Amino acid sequence: MTRSDRERMRNFYDNLGEREWSRLEESPRGRVAYEVHRQFLERFVKSGDQVLEIGAGPGRFTFDLARLGATADVTDFSPVQLDLHRQRLDGTAAEAAVTSRALLDICDTSRYGDATFDVVLAYGGPLSYAFEQTEDAVVGLLRITKPGGYVVASVMSWLGSWRHFLPSALEDAKVVGDDAFDLMLTTGDLRHSQTTHVCQMFRARDLLELVAKCGGEIAAMSSSNWASLSDPVVLEELEADPDRWSRFLRHEVAACAEPGALDGGTHILFATRRP
Ligand SMILES: C[S@@+](CC[C@H](N)C(=O)[O-])C[C@H]1O[C@@H](n2cnc3c(N)ncnc32)[C@H](O)[C@@H]1O
Repeated sequence: MTRSDRERMRNFYDNLGEREWSRLEESPRGRVAYEVHRQFLERFVKSGDQVLEIGAGPGRFTFDLARLGATADVTDFSPVQLDLHRQRLDGTAAEAAVTSRALLDICDTSRYGDATFDVVLAYGGPLSYAFEQTEDAVVGLLRITKPGGYVVASVMSWLGSWRHFLPSALEDAKVVGDDAFDLMLTTGDLRHSQTTHVCQMFRARDLLELVAKCGGEIAAMSSSNWASLSDPVVLEELEADPDRWSRFLRHEVAACAEPGALDGGTHILFATRRP
């Protein structure tokens, strides 16, 4: 990631401000994504764990870490998001779980010692903004994780996003031209588009290769989402019936973890074990 890419994305999240909080609650699709991420996280965090949360944003998953009995060193590269995190947790029981708050770029974790954390959490894409430094970043995350501990992360899905956002992608192609669009679809790198939200998208197989190269072991993967991406109206009707909704969520979370579904969502979650 060049300095200007980094600054561009920091500005993006500074300007996004409060709207980052609503991402996982304003639509049934977002609420399913939250459920998939929450249940995935619960598999790797236990009471008493010391967690480094990177790209914590306004703190949605810090509440979950606190509920699970973990403590969290909270970080983000956006000072605005870090401040929103402070405000949102202020006066809540979850604040007691926060051991520190600091600015941190996922590409530079050199300030932490080897094997410091039980879990390193990077949900919502910080690794999608590391670009050329992705490998170094993952090596760094594994270095600061205790042996047997986990790096848990989610990134933007290349194939699933292409399918889900096809109409806007085609609009983008008209503006940037077919050559740039081809480049975007063959690299997953949104810096070839004209979007203000530039990021690197991944396929499941890219993540398998990345983790193996960095010396980690994949413990689990999941897409987010699967069937819940297809029809927002049907999804709303389902959600209106609590019993059918909870059955749907159970099936959806299971479907997302199927190997055949990993590339089908807008995001891919993965947990990497430090050997
Ligand atoms: C989509 S939000 C996710 C927030 C929260 N983790 C969640 O999943 O709800 C991405 C967050 O990552 C932060 N971020 C992006 N790139 C980063 C980087 N290179 N290092 C650290 N944080 C980064 C952004 O500032 C933003 O708060």
